[in-house]
Amino acid sequence: MQLVMIDDKFVDSAKVDSAYFDYGTFFGDGVYEFLRSYNGKIFALDEHLERFQKSLSEIEIDGIDIDVIRKRVLAVFEKYNKPNVKIYFHVTRGAGIREHAKEGLTPRFFLTIDEIEDAGAYHKTGIKVISVPDTRWKRCDIKSLNLLPNVLAKRAAHRQGCAEAIFVDDKGYITEGAASAFFAVFGNVLKTAPLNANILPSVTRHFTLQLASNVGLKVDESQVRISDIAKADELFQAVSSKDITGIIKFDDITIGDGKPGKYAKLLAEEFEKLVK
Ligand SMILES: Cc1ncc(COP(=O)(O)O)c(C=O)c1O
Repeated sequence: MQLVMIDDKFVDSAKVDSAYFDYGTFFGDGVYEFLRSYNGKIFALDEHLERFQKSLSEIEIDGIDIDVIRKRVLAVFEKYNKPNVKIYFHVTRGAGIREHAKEGLTPRFFLTIDEIEDAGAYHKTGIKVISVPDTRWKRCDIKSLNLLPNVLAKRAAHRQGCAEAIFVDDKGYITEGAASAFFAVFGNVLKTAPLNANILPSVTRHFTLQLASNVGLKVDESQVRISDIAKADELFQAVSSKDITGIIKFDDITIGDGKPGKYAKLLAEEFEKLVK
């Protein structure tokens, strides 16, 4: 019989809450989504569900009905009944005795909903970022619960008074932020890393690229070299929780005049129109 110790207490494993045996905890063996609403309307639900479905199938969690997930998201949104919310949910492989490749577990669903803080102040001041080596695995396109490098990168950024950490690969090219997509403007060209296994297919990135031509930007989906950051006219990040936010400092380099740039503001305005 297995014996369990939780903090200082010995517990009979049959009496332990199964949440302690969740494969998300043991292995980060699960995938998640984060989405939000604007003014009473959930934004880009289809895009988030489609990405979730892909993440599930990439890690071989079968049997999840995406329509059931959609209904749960809509039900919780209706019950919570607030106009501006953030919704987090994940599915893990299940709970059980810790075994790397155990078959036959029942996947577990977990969701939280909260009011989302307004990103207006963030947009006004812009943010500072640091660069960090991209030490993540080679399937960053999967929105997996394994986020340790992202957590450590973000912690390092906060220690240095910065809001975000930007990952740089072995060759000196920027991939993305610890929890955001990364963009640079050179003249009238908007650069961001192409979609491949090295970055998450960010939903906000997708809409930002769609909106680029509305503000007179041409899109170049290629990676920015860290050595070119000083030459950028503007930098910004994109993420569901805060849409488009200007970056005013990158390591020791002040970007532009140290305020959020023109295109970041224009794109944020376009984004606002879109979500309305
Ligand atoms: C690593 C990473 N890249 C990009 C994003 C932005 O994705 P989205 O625009 O879908 O929120 C996130 C969001 O959490 C992220 O964790």
